[in-house]
Amino acid sequence: MQFIRMSDIDLAGKKVLIRADLNVPQNDAGVIMDDTRITASIPAIQYALDHGAAVMVTSHLGRPLEGQFSHEDSLAPITLRIADLLGRKVPLVSDWVENGVRVAPGEIVMLENCRLNIGEKANDENLAKKIAKLCDVYVNDAFGTAHRAEATTHGVAKFAPIACAGPLMAAELDALSKALQSPQRQLVAIVAGSKVSTKLTILKKLADKVDQLIVGGGIANTFMLAKGLPIGKSLAEPNLVEQAREIMALMEKRGAEVPIPEDVIVANEFSSHARANKVLAQDVQDDDMILDIGPRTAARFATLISHAGTVVWNGPVGVFEIEQFSGGTKMLAAAIAHSPAFTIGGGGDTLSAISKFQITNQMDYISTGGGAFLEFLEGRTLPAVEILVQRAHTFATQ
Ligand code: 3PG
Ligand code: MG
Repeated sequence: MQFIRMSDIDLAGKKVLIRADLNVPQNDAGVIMDDTRITASIPAIQYALDHGAAVMVTSHLGRPLEGQFSHEDSLAPITLRIADLLGRKVPLVSDWVENGVRVAPGEIVMLENCRLNIGEKANDENLAKKIAKLCDVYVNDAFGTAHRAEATTHGVAKFAPIACAGPLMAAELDALSKALQSPQRQLVAIVAGSKVSTKLTILKKLADKVDQLIVGGGIANTFMLAKGLPIGKSLAEPNLVEQAREIMALMEKRGAEVPIPEDVIVANEFSSHARANKVLAQDVQDDDMILDIGPRTAARFATLISHAGTVVWNGPVGVFEIEQFSGGTKMLAAAIAHSPAFTIGGGGDTLSAISKFQITNQMDYISTGGGAFLEFLEGRTLPAVEILVQRAHTFATQ
């Protein structure tokens, strides 16, 4: 993928607009619950400051109504955290499109939630042109929002004098391309979650590429059904059994495999008080709910992971938030942590599992993308990336 990187550009004295993804979870009191995306956005900001740029940073937060400011949509708490991390004062500017922005070289300002601007979501061209006028260099470092074509992720990149990728965006694209475009074999993908329907496109896409496709959660239940195994009252989508069969057939034809659980952990209720039972897959009863993979299955998956060259992980294989159903995901996490493979993980639940089982430092790459990570795995073109690539072409031929 050919795009200009921020480090390719001389930023001294330039007005630099950085689009970051600072859309972090907050509790009702506005307290930041996980600041991974903020800390991951600091290197771009620090780099621009260190190189003498006049720095403007914006992001969306949540999905506010355009044109209607309310305090819970404000970037104020995020701005405070950035100020803390940078060890300097950071002003927050509102109504910045209409009023313009004043910032000196070596200084930084935050621009209030860009989704408050009318026309942001619709990628309005006039809005994008106004935003582009604010800067000499536009830097997109918002990988987490790269699947959205909005005024600050797409339109502005068309009209800014220079449009380039920040270090986080570049690192995400480098890591994901390494895992999927020229992977070290075996390539093992773990795709888990409650529904086949939401991940069907990814499963089909990966079925064409990977050597082992480990499925988990409700997705695995649907595959078990497709194999004729009993699943009791477990979450599944019987109407997608045919699709599951097609995926398995496609894989088998290539000499690849979807390993189906041979044992599972079941309970009669979905609760932290539930009594968990370990049973063979063929022995699941009518009133059982499958809530985790069993130890034999986990050991088999661990072996597959230990022989892998690349592991892409999206989704826990059991209800890991509840102790008695966490064993499968824990074992998987340990296997990934110890695997010599290039390992990459992404998606909200996966990040929680990585943090719960404390394998952050043993992962080769952890993506800050949720939807964007999944769309990349689906092989879709991310609009915010596509426009950077297009701009790199015009830049090269200028
Ligand atoms: C995310 O958290 O998935 C990204 O920041 C994109 O947010 P959105 O789904 O509201 O566009
Ligand atoms: Mg989202």
